[in-house]
Amino acid sequence: MAKKILLSGIQPSGKPHIGNYFGLMKRIVEYQDEYQVYFFIADYHALNSFKDKETLKSNIINIVIDYLAIGLDPKKSTIFKQSDVSEHAELAWIFDTITTMPYLERAHAYKDAQAKGKEISVGLFNYPMLMAADILLYGTELVPVGKDQEQHVEIARDTAEKFNNKFGETFTLPKSKIAEIPVIHGTDGRKMSKSYDNTIPLFSEYEDIKKIVMSIVTDSGEGKGEGKPKNVYAIHNLIRPSSDLDPIYESKKGKYKELKELLIEDLEKFIAPLREKRKEFEKDIPRALAILKEGGDKAKKIASAKMDEVREKIGVKVY
Ligand code: ADP
Ligand code: TRP
Repeated sequence: MAKKILLSGIQPSGKPHIGNYFGLMKRIVEYQDEYQVYFFIADYHALNSFKDKETLKSNIINIVIDYLAIGLDPKKSTIFKQSDVSEHAELAWIFDTITTMPYLERAHAYKDAQAKGKEISVGLFNYPMLMAADILLYGTELVPVGKDQEQHVEIARDTAEKFNNKFGETFTLPKSKIAEIPVIHGTDGRKMSKSYDNTIPLFSEYEDIKKIVMSIVTDSGEGKGEGKPKNVYAIHNLIRPSSDLDPIYESKKGKYKELKELLIEDLEKFIAPLREKRKEFEKDIPRALAILKEGGDKAKKIASAKMDEVREKIGVKVY
Protein backbone atom coordinates (compact mmCIF):
# COMPACT_ATOMS: atom_id res chain seq x y z
CA MET A 1 0.00 0.00 0.00
CA ALA A 2 1.29 3.46 -0.87
CA LYS A 3 2.35 5.55 2.11
CA LYS A 4 0.22 8.56 2.98
CA ILE A 5 1.72 11.91 2.08
CA LEU A 6 2.71 14.18 4.95
CA LEU A 7 4.06 17.68 4.41
CA SER A 8 5.69 20.13 6.73
CA GLY A 9 7.10 23.60 6.17
CA ILE A 10 9.28 25.64 8.44
CA GLN A 11 10.26 29.27 8.19
CA PRO A 12 13.99 29.96 8.31
CA SER A 13 13.73 32.23 11.31
CA GLY A 14 16.82 31.50 13.38
CA LYS A 15 18.05 28.93 15.86
CA PRO A 16 15.57 26.21 16.86
CA HIS A 17 14.86 25.65 20.54
CA ILE A 18 13.82 22.54 22.43
CA GLY A 19 10.18 23.71 22.18
CA ASN A 20 10.43 23.44 18.40
CA TYR A 21 12.19 20.11 18.78
CA PHE A 22 9.76 18.39 21.14
CA GLY A 23 6.79 20.06 19.48
CA LEU A 24 7.45 19.40 15.82
CA MET A 25 11.00 18.62 14.67
CA LYS A 26 11.39 15.28 16.43
CA ARG A 27 8.05 14.07 15.10
CA ILE A 28 8.89 14.90 11.51
CA VAL A 29 11.93 12.66 11.80
CA GLU A 30 9.78 9.88 13.29
CA TYR A 31 7.12 10.27 10.58
CA GLN A 32 9.67 9.40 7.89
CA ASP A 33 9.13 5.68 8.29
CA GLU A 34 5.36 5.72 8.25
CA TYR A 35 4.67 8.45 5.70
CA GLN A 36 6.05 9.83 2.51
CA VAL A 37 7.42 13.07 3.90
CA TYR A 38 7.84 16.37 2.07
CA PHE A 39 9.77 18.85 4.15
CA PHE A 40 10.47 22.32 2.89
CA ILE A 41 12.00 25.58 3.99
CA ALA A 42 9.37 28.29 3.64
CA ASP A 43 11.72 31.04 2.48
CA TYR A 44 9.09 32.97 0.52
CA HIS A 45 6.88 33.02 3.62
CA ALA A 46 9.85 34.37 5.57
CA LEU A 47 9.95 37.45 3.31
CA ASN A 48 7.00 38.78 5.29
CA SER A 49 9.41 39.28 8.17
CA PHE A 50 12.53 39.98 6.11
CA LYS A 51 15.48 41.42 8.02
CA ASP A 52 18.33 41.44 5.55
CA LYS A 53 19.64 39.33 2.72
CA GLU A 54 22.63 37.87 4.58
CA THR A 55 20.51 36.84 7.57
CA LEU A 56 17.97 35.14 5.33
CA LYS A 57 20.73 33.27 3.48
CA SER A 58 22.44 32.05 6.61
CA ASN A 59 19.11 31.11 8.23
CA ILE A 60 18.29 28.94 5.21
CA ILE A 61 21.65 27.16 5.32
CA ASN A 62 21.45 26.74 9.10
CA ILE A 63 18.01 25.27 9.12
CA VAL A 64 18.96 22.58 6.58
CA ILE A 65 21.89 21.62 8.77
CA ASP A 66 19.67 21.62 11.88
CA TYR A 67 17.23 19.18 10.35
CA LEU A 68 19.91 16.91 8.87
CA ALA A 69 21.55 16.81 12.28
CA ILE A 70 18.40 15.59 14.01
CA GLY A 71 17.94 12.82 11.46
CA LEU A 72 15.92 14.11 8.52
CA ASP A 73 17.09 11.77 5.81
CA PRO A 74 17.17 12.64 2.09
CA LYS A 75 16.95 8.93 1.25
CA LYS A 76 13.55 8.75 2.90
CA SER A 77 12.15 12.26 2.49
CA THR A 78 12.04 15.04 -0.06
CA ILE A 79 13.82 18.02 1.48
CA PHE A 80 13.61 21.27 -0.46
CA LYS A 81 13.30 25.02 -0.48
CA GLN A 82 10.04 26.72 -1.43
CA SER A 83 11.69 29.26 -3.74
CA ASP A 84 13.16 26.42 -5.84
CA VAL A 85 9.65 25.39 -6.86
CA SER A 86 8.04 28.43 -8.50
CA GLU A 87 4.74 26.51 -8.78
CA HIS A 88 4.03 27.42 -5.13
CA ALA A 89 3.76 31.11 -5.97
CA GLU A 90 1.95 30.39 -9.22
CA LEU A 91 -0.75 28.27 -7.61
CA ALA A 92 -1.12 30.81 -4.79
CA TRP A 93 -2.10 33.39 -7.43
CA ILE A 94 -4.79 31.11 -8.83
CA PHE A 95 -6.13 30.56 -5.32
CA ASP A 96 -6.20 34.35 -4.81
CA THR A 97 -8.66 34.59 -7.66
CA ILE A 98 -11.17 32.17 -6.10
CA THR A 99 -10.90 33.53 -2.55
CA THR A 100 -12.71 36.57 -1.17
CA MET A 101 -11.24 39.33 0.97
CA PRO A 102 -13.77 38.82 3.82
CA TYR A 103 -12.78 35.16 4.00
CA LEU A 104 -9.09 36.00 4.46
CA GLU A 105 -9.93 38.81 6.86
CA ARG A 106 -10.99 36.13 9.32
CA ALA A 107 -7.49 34.60 9.45
CA HIS A 108 -5.83 34.86 12.88
CA ALA A 109 -2.40 35.97 11.67
CA TYR A 110 -3.96 38.92 9.86
CA LYS A 111 -6.35 39.75 12.72
CA ASP A 112 -3.53 39.65 15.29
CA ALA A 113 -1.31 41.92 13.20
CA GLN A 114 -4.21 44.29 12.74
CA ALA A 115 -5.04 44.29 16.46
CA LYS A 116 -1.43 45.24 17.19
CA GLY A 117 -1.71 48.15 14.76
CA LYS A 118 1.06 46.74 12.55
CA GLU A 119 1.55 47.73 8.94
CA ILE A 120 0.27 44.72 7.00
CA SER A 121 1.76 43.71 3.67
CA VAL A 122 -0.38 42.11 0.98
CA GLY A 123 1.98 39.15 1.43
CA LEU A 124 0.97 38.73 5.06
CA PHE A 125 -2.70 39.05 4.17
CA ASN A 126 -2.34 36.42 1.43
CA TYR A 127 -0.10 34.14 3.47
CA PRO A 128 -2.78 31.42 3.84
CA MET A 129 -3.06 31.17 0.04
CA LEU A 130 0.66 30.50 -0.35
CA MET A 131 0.44 27.98 2.46
CA ALA A 132 -2.54 26.32 0.75
CA ALA A 133 -0.48 26.03 -2.44
CA ASP A 134 2.46 24.54 -0.46
CA ILE A 135 0.19 21.86 0.89
CA LEU A 136 -2.01 21.08 -2.11
CA LEU A 137 0.63 20.76 -4.82
CA TYR A 138 1.83 17.44 -3.43
CA GLY A 139 -1.42 15.58 -2.75
CA THR A 140 -0.80 16.05 0.96
CA GLU A 141 -3.12 14.20 3.31
CA LEU A 142 -1.56 15.16 6.63
CA VAL A 143 0.02 18.35 7.92
CA PRO A 144 1.57 18.23 11.40
CA VAL A 145 1.28 21.73 12.88
CA GLY A 146 0.96 23.42 16.22
CA LYS A 147 -2.26 25.12 17.31
CA ASP A 148 -1.10 28.45 15.84
CA GLN A 149 -1.13 26.97 12.34
CA GLU A 150 -4.30 24.91 12.52
CA GLN A 151 -6.50 27.54 10.91
CA HIS A 152 -4.14 27.75 7.94
CA VAL A 153 -4.59 24.05 7.27
CA GLU A 154 -8.36 24.51 7.45
CA ILE A 155 -8.07 27.32 4.92
CA ALA A 156 -6.05 25.02 2.65
CA ARG A 157 -8.77 22.40 2.95
CA ASP A 158 -11.54 24.91 2.17
CA THR A 159 -9.58 26.20 -0.79
CA ALA A 160 -9.10 22.69 -2.18
CA GLU A 161 -12.83 22.10 -1.87
CA LYS A 162 -13.68 25.39 -3.50
CA PHE A 163 -11.35 24.70 -6.41
CA ASN A 164 -12.62 21.13 -6.84
CA ASN A 165 -16.23 22.34 -6.87
CA LYS A 166 -15.53 25.03 -9.41
CA PHE A 167 -13.15 23.23 -11.77
CA GLY A 168 -13.52 19.51 -11.04
CA GLU A 169 -11.74 17.07 -8.74
CA THR A 170 -8.09 18.16 -8.59
CA PHE A 171 -6.84 18.39 -5.01
CA THR A 172 -6.73 15.98 -2.07
CA LEU A 173 -8.30 17.51 1.05
CA PRO A 174 -5.60 17.80 3.75
CA LYS A 175 -6.04 17.36 7.48
CA SER A 176 -3.96 18.80 10.28
CA LYS A 177 -2.30 16.39 12.64
CA ILE A 178 -2.54 18.62 15.60
CA ALA A 179 -3.35 16.24 18.44
CA GLU A 180 0.21 14.95 18.38
CA ILE A 181 1.91 18.31 18.67
CA PRO A 182 2.17 19.39 22.32
CA VAL A 183 2.91 22.92 23.48
CA ILE A 184 6.26 23.10 25.25
CA HIS A 185 6.75 25.65 28.01
CA GLY A 186 9.79 27.84 28.43
CA THR A 187 11.99 28.97 31.31
CA ASP A 188 9.30 31.34 32.58
CA GLY A 189 6.42 28.88 32.23
CA ARG A 190 4.90 30.58 29.18
CA LYS A 191 4.92 28.87 25.75
CA MET A 192 8.55 28.51 24.72
CA SER A 193 9.09 31.05 21.98
CA LYS A 194 11.87 33.18 20.54
CA SER A 195 9.62 36.17 20.95
CA TYR A 196 9.41 35.63 24.75
CA ASP A 197 13.14 35.11 25.18
CA ASN A 198 12.45 32.04 27.34
CA THR A 199 14.01 29.33 25.16
CA ILE A 200 16.68 26.68 25.50
CA PRO A 201 18.35 26.52 22.08
CA LEU A 202 18.46 22.94 20.80
CA PHE A 203 22.17 22.91 19.99
CA SER A 204 23.32 24.88 23.06
CA GLU A 205 26.85 24.61 24.38
CA TYR A 206 27.25 23.32 27.96
CA GLU A 207 28.04 26.75 29.39
CA ASP A 208 24.87 28.19 27.86
CA ILE A 209 22.76 25.33 29.18
CA LYS A 210 24.10 26.11 32.67
CA LYS A 211 23.29 29.80 32.42
CA ILE A 212 19.80 29.24 31.04
CA VAL A 213 18.83 26.54 33.54
CA MET A 214 20.03 28.67 36.44
CA SER A 215 17.72 31.42 35.16
CA ILE A 216 14.59 29.23 35.14
CA VAL A 217 11.88 30.85 37.21
CA THR A 218 11.45 28.61 40.28
CA ASP A 219 7.87 29.23 41.00
CA SER A 220 6.41 26.23 42.78
CA GLY A 221 2.75 25.64 43.38
CA GLU A 222 1.27 25.78 46.83
CA GLY A 223 -0.25 22.75 48.56
CA LYS A 224 0.37 19.53 46.69
CA GLY A 225 3.08 20.87 44.41
CA GLU A 226 4.88 22.80 47.13
CA GLY A 227 8.64 22.63 46.97
CA LYS A 228 8.53 21.24 43.44
CA PRO A 229 9.74 23.85 40.92
CA LYS A 230 7.21 23.32 38.17
CA ASN A 231 9.08 25.03 35.32
CA VAL A 232 12.23 23.02 36.08
CA TYR A 233 10.20 19.83 36.29
CA ALA A 234 8.32 20.49 33.02
CA ILE A 235 11.56 20.92 31.09
CA HIS A 236 13.13 17.94 32.85
CA ASN A 237 10.12 15.84 31.97
CA LEU A 238 10.83 16.34 28.25
CA ILE A 239 13.93 14.22 28.56
CA ARG A 240 13.16 11.93 31.53
CA PRO A 241 9.91 10.16 32.40
CA SER A 242 7.87 11.08 35.49
CA SER A 243 8.55 7.65 36.99
CA ASP A 244 12.24 8.64 37.15
CA LEU A 245 11.71 12.21 38.19
CA ASP A 246 8.99 12.00 40.81
CA PRO A 247 11.04 10.23 43.51
CA ILE A 248 13.96 12.57 42.89
CA TYR A 249 11.83 15.72 43.10
CA GLU A 250 10.12 14.33 46.21
CA SER A 251 13.40 13.64 48.01
CA LYS A 252 14.87 17.01 46.98
CA LYS A 253 11.83 19.11 47.82
CA GLY A 254 12.73 22.78 48.01
CA LYS A 255 16.34 22.14 46.92
CA TYR A 256 16.03 24.13 43.75
CA LYS A 257 19.74 24.50 43.09
CA GLU A 258 20.37 20.75 43.25
CA LEU A 259 17.43 20.01 41.00
CA LYS A 260 18.67 22.54 38.50
CA GLU A 261 22.14 21.02 38.56
CA LEU A 262 20.65 17.65 37.78
CA LEU A 263 18.65 19.17 34.93
CA ILE A 264 21.83 20.75 33.53
CA GLU A 265 23.54 17.37 33.44
CA ASP A 266 20.55 15.62 31.88
CA LEU A 267 20.12 18.33 29.26
CA GLU A 268 23.80 18.12 28.41
CA LYS A 269 23.51 14.33 27.96
CA PHE A 270 20.60 14.86 25.62
CA ILE A 271 21.95 17.83 23.67
CA ALA A 272 25.65 16.88 23.32
CA PRO A 273 25.19 14.15 20.67
CA LEU A 274 22.89 16.39 18.62
CA ARG A 275 25.35 19.27 18.91
CA GLU A 276 28.18 17.01 17.73
CA LYS A 277 26.16 15.72 14.78
CA ARG A 278 25.37 19.29 13.81
CA LYS A 279 29.06 20.17 13.88
CA GLU A 280 29.76 17.29 11.51
CA PHE A 281 27.17 18.51 9.00
CA GLU A 282 28.42 22.06 9.39
CA LYS A 283 31.84 20.97 8.10
CA ASP A 284 30.36 20.15 4.73
CA ILE A 285 27.90 22.87 3.80
CA PRO A 286 28.13 22.15 0.04
CA ARG A 287 26.85 18.64 0.75
CA ALA A 288 23.88 19.98 2.71
CA LEU A 289 23.11 22.42 -0.09
CA ALA A 290 23.35 19.66 -2.71
CA ILE A 291 20.74 17.69 -0.73
CA LEU A 292 18.48 20.73 -0.75
CA LYS A 293 18.95 21.32 -4.46
CA GLU A 294 18.32 17.70 -5.37
CA GLY A 295 15.18 17.70 -3.24
CA GLY A 296 14.07 20.82 -5.13
CA ASP A 297 14.45 19.02 -8.46
CA LYS A 298 12.33 16.12 -7.18
CA ALA A 299 9.63 18.37 -5.74
CA LYS A 300 9.57 20.46 -8.92
CA LYS A 301 8.66 17.40 -11.01
CA ILE A 302 5.63 16.63 -8.83
CA ALA A 303 4.56 20.26 -8.55
CA SER A 304 4.87 21.00 -12.24
CA ALA A 305 2.75 17.96 -13.18
CA LYS A 306 0.09 19.20 -10.76
CA MET A 307 0.25 22.73 -12.20
CA ASP A 308 -0.18 21.32 -15.66
CA GLU A 309 -3.36 19.65 -14.51
CA VAL A 310 -4.50 22.92 -12.88
CA ARG A 311 -3.87 24.89 -16.09
CA GLU A 312 -5.87 22.36 -18.02
CA LYS A 313 -8.75 22.51 -15.50
CA ILE A 314 -8.99 26.30 -15.47
CA GLY A 315 -8.86 26.61 -19.25
CA VAL A 316 -5.56 28.33 -19.95
CA LYS A 317 -3.91 25.29 -21.50
CA VAL A 318 -4.39 25.63 -25.25
CA TYR A 319 -1.45 23.49 -26.42
P1 ADP B 1 8.95 30.74 17.85
O1 ADP B 1 7.63 30.94 18.55
O2 ADP B 1 10.04 30.42 18.82
O3 ADP B 1 9.30 31.86 16.91
P2 ADP B 1 8.37 29.31 15.45
O4 ADP B 1 7.14 30.13 15.21
O5 ADP B 1 9.56 29.54 14.59
O6 ADP B 1 8.78 29.43 16.99
O7 ADP B 1 7.94 27.78 15.40
C1 ADP B 1 8.30 26.86 14.42
C2 ADP B 1 7.48 25.61 14.61
O8 ADP B 1 7.64 25.03 15.92
C3 ADP B 1 5.97 25.87 14.45
O9 ADP B 1 5.44 24.82 13.68
C4 ADP B 1 5.41 25.85 15.83
O10 ADP B 1 4.10 25.33 15.86
C5 ADP B 1 6.39 24.92 16.59
N1 ADP B 1 6.60 25.46 17.96
C6 ADP B 1 7.07 26.67 18.28
N2 ADP B 1 7.11 26.86 19.61
C7 ADP B 1 6.63 25.72 20.15
C8 ADP B 1 6.38 25.29 21.50
N3 ADP B 1 6.66 26.06 22.54
N4 ADP B 1 5.87 24.08 21.69
C9 ADP B 1 5.59 23.29 20.63
N5 ADP B 1 5.78 23.61 19.35
C10 ADP B 1 6.30 24.81 19.09
N1 TRP C 1 3.23 28.86 8.31
C1 TRP C 1 4.11 27.88 8.92
C2 TRP C 1 4.79 28.48 10.16
O1 TRP C 1 4.92 29.68 10.25
C3 TRP C 1 5.15 27.41 7.95
C4 TRP C 1 4.52 26.81 6.72
C5 TRP C 1 4.45 27.37 5.49
C6 TRP C 1 3.90 25.53 6.64
N2 TRP C 1 3.83 26.54 4.62
C7 TRP C 1 3.47 25.41 5.28
C8 TRP C 1 3.65 24.52 7.56
C9 TRP C 1 2.78 24.27 4.86
C10 TRP C 1 2.98 23.38 7.12
C11 TRP C 1 2.54 23.26 5.77
O2 TRP C 1 5.22 27.74 11.03
